[in-house]
Amino acid sequence: MKISVIGCGYLGAVHAASMAKLGHDVVAVDVDPVRIERLAAGDAPFFEPGLPEILTEALASGRLRFTTDTAEVAGARVHFLAVGTPQGPTGAADVTYVDAAVAGLVPHLSDGDFVVGKSTVPVGTAARLAAEVTAVVPGATLVWNPEFLREGFAVRDTISPDRLVYGVPSGPAGQAAVAALDEVYAATLADGTPRLVVDLATAELVKVSANAFLATKISFINAMAEIAEVVGADVTALADAIGHDERIGRKFLNAGLGFGGGCLPKDIRAFRARATELGVGESLDFLADVDAINLRRRAHVVTLAQELLGDVLAGKRVGVLGLAFKPNSDDVRDSPALDIADRLRELGATVSAYDPQANGTAARVRPELDYVGSVDAAVQDADLVLVLTEWTEFRQLDPTAVASLVRDRVVIDGRNVLDRDAWTAAGFTVRGMGR
Ligand code: UGA
Repeated sequence: MKISVIGCGYLGAVHAASMAKLGHDVVAVDVDPVRIERLAAGDAPFFEPGLPEILTEALASGRLRFTTDTAEVAGARVHFLAVGTPQGPTGAADVTYVDAAVAGLVPHLSDGDFVVGKSTVPVGTAARLAAEVTAVVPGATLVWNPEFLREGFAVRDTISPDRLVYGVPSGPAGQAAVAALDEVYAATLADGTPRLVVDLATAELVKVSANAFLATKISFINAMAEIAEVVGADVTALADAIGHDERIGRKFLNAGLGFGGGCLPKDIRAFRARATELGVGESLDFLADVDAINLRRRAHVVTLAQELLGDVLAGKRVGVLGLAFKPNSDDVRDSPALDIADRLRELGATVSAYDPQANGTAARVRPELDYVGSVDAAVQDADLVLVLTEWTEFRQLDPTAVASLVRDRVVIDGRNVLDRDAWTAAGFTVRGMGR
């Protein structure tokens, strides 16, 4: 099928390459010429396992091209909208890029084309955009097909998602849209992926409610961590025990520094803002607590670090391991790790930070921190070591080797991933989260 993808950020770049991998003929558009040039050269502009390989393969096959000229989408039958919806100043989602993408796309649409929204938008956006599209091109149809990919697993989640959700209008246009999307995802459907056909508003809500649920699950266990810290219980053992109940499930019950990244934090805020606009703000009031619990984890670690360092941070050396918001990513958007590293620096500590992939992205937004190229360099002469992102490299560290480098054997395990017995045996005071 001939497909266009508007927006080549995280979602769009992965989607475009994945669609080409599925055998489609894809043209991907972005307004940023530097990004387009890099992608066209097969150079992924962010770290995502598997993306460089499928990008190179798709470019070599001739089925994928990148351009800054939206006019080149003409001739494609399905046009995916994959631009960002960042957090605006009030917490509500900023849909400027989605509006601009649709406005730029409409002049190039033909009757029989499908505009397929993938971006995370406030509920009601799709219906508004659908009217804008059909006002100009009555035979085109706008549908919503939310994306559930996780960074670090983006290619896998795009090609083999848990489920496909199609939000379509009722009637023949909706049926034609389902048929077109079934053609796009033929290989994915053949693998047995469940596919749910719903209305536009439900499709928009599926996305934000999934992220709200995941955020709530994480904050729930972090609230239990706060209690466990007071009574001397172990939140990890608690999560294991309640997680055996299939109705609860063990996934997303890892207590630690909480959630960050470009999705969960902004999506819960945007969802609340939208509910308030709709007059049902009360329904999502609990998300304010979810957000607050999450942010308290960062403050808690900073306080713990101060306590362990004897309150005065000036002149103290702190080794920070991890800056990305989660492992297998170089993304530092709303990263708890980077936030904590920077707060410790602001309080006067000398912070040496190392992340296997995110030093560069972190340095762009927090140039004041001292970035080093290895664990050894980060922990050298440290009075305190903090593990803030659970990269495998950090999980597998040899505590005796670290012990030989640090000044004081004290470690904060912000993600509860270190082998406490081994670290304790190597002479470390180990402080976990909620244990
Ligand atoms: C999230 C969702 O998981 C995806 O389904 C969704 O498509 C995506 O947002 C999006 O809206 O685009 P992602 O932001 O890549 O994906 O990250 P997650 O894997 O959900 O992790 C989010 C944060 O929660 C990370 O900071 C992680 O460290 C933290 N987390 C996760 C915990 O603190 N505890 C857990 O048990 C799990």
